[in-house]
Amino acid sequence: MATDALGRRVDYLRISVTDRCNLRCVYCMPAEGVVWKPHAEILNPEEIAHFAALAAEQGIGRIRLTGGEPLVRASILDLIRRLRETRGIEAIALTTNGTLLPKFAPALREAGLQRVNISLDSLDAEEYARITRGGNLGHALAGIAAALDAGFDPVKVNVVVVRSLGQNLDGFARMTLDRPLHVRFIEFMPVGAVPEAAEHPSCSVTSWSRDDVVPADEILAAISAWGVKQGIGALLPAEADAPGGWGPARYHRFAGAPGTIGIISPLSEHFCAKCSRLRLTADGKLRPCLFSDLEFDAREALRAGDDERVRVLIAMALRHKPGSHGERIGTRRHMSQIGG
Ligand code: 5AD
Ligand code: SF4
Repeated sequence: MATDALGRRVDYLRISVTDRCNLRCVYCMPAEGVVWKPHAEILNPEEIAHFAALAAEQGIGRIRLTGGEPLVRASILDLIRRLRETRGIEAIALTTNGTLLPKFAPALREAGLQRVNISLDSLDAEEYARITRGGNLGHALAGIAAALDAGFDPVKVNVVVVRSLGQNLDGFARMTLDRPLHVRFIEFMPVGAVPEAAEHPSCSVTSWSRDDVVPADEILAAISAWGVKQGIGALLPAEADAPGGWGPARYHRFAGAPGTIGIISPLSEHFCAKCSRLRLTADGKLRPCLFSDLEFDAREALRAGDDERVRVLIAMALRHKPGSHGERIGTRRHMSQIGG
């Protein structure tokens, strides 16, 4: 069992498999000017699976694949098959924008993927296109349907709430009434390159501002009020672990609904005390904290075939996992380069 210096149990590894994406969400990536990591710097499936095997040896056995958009990576099915065959890996999940799920959902399921989270920030086609800078809402909705059809369980929908986007959240609440969809509203986080911190000057954009953070309680109150207005009743607390979460969401549901409403509030409620994760970036950097630029170069050790060194790096990442993210704003990497 892996624990960090503060006694937190760490059993969850988020692996970004690519920094590329077929969308350009305004809060995640700049419109243009992102410098993609060269292919030679990106870990291949064999290297990723080998790292995951070494982490699993230490009890870090839950894996989430992220991006960028993980489904733009041609070798994703190969990777999932490798991970499924790796001893110590208990579960494999994927976070995607869903637009490629109509094509891939059955194959992903067959490869051994168990759970999917789909990022979707608006149910209005025009607004969706604006937020994603050109995305097609129909494709994302078809992706959600394809995920349910393929038998993924749970299927979660992640909604980043940004005040100045003025999203109408009622439709997301309605989604939980007739399908086993678990909608999670996520507070807008100050992750992403700011001018002072940017890794590359042309990437120095971020749209985060404190005014854009809609606190968890406000979101819950609005959703609950919608339920009352519809005659469904107020939101009720669901059991803490309603859809079998690995992370910090708190869940609620409307009476009798198959789906749930969750809130992820990294800012208004510090959940760092329960943080159970490490992150591996697509270019092989091991990152103890989303909000910290501290990274350990696992790629070099992996490519040198030095397993012992990789184990030491995992131990160092655990030892240096920050206790909390404090009031930090901005990171050297964009969210798409970390993996959310
Ligand atoms: N704040 C909160 N969530 C974010 N995501 C990307 N950028 C941010 C941000 N600044 C989300 C995506 C996706 C997940 C990987 O991270 O919408 O759901
Ligand atoms: Fe792509 Fe997800 Fe970032 Fe949107 S939030 S640009 S879908 S990686």
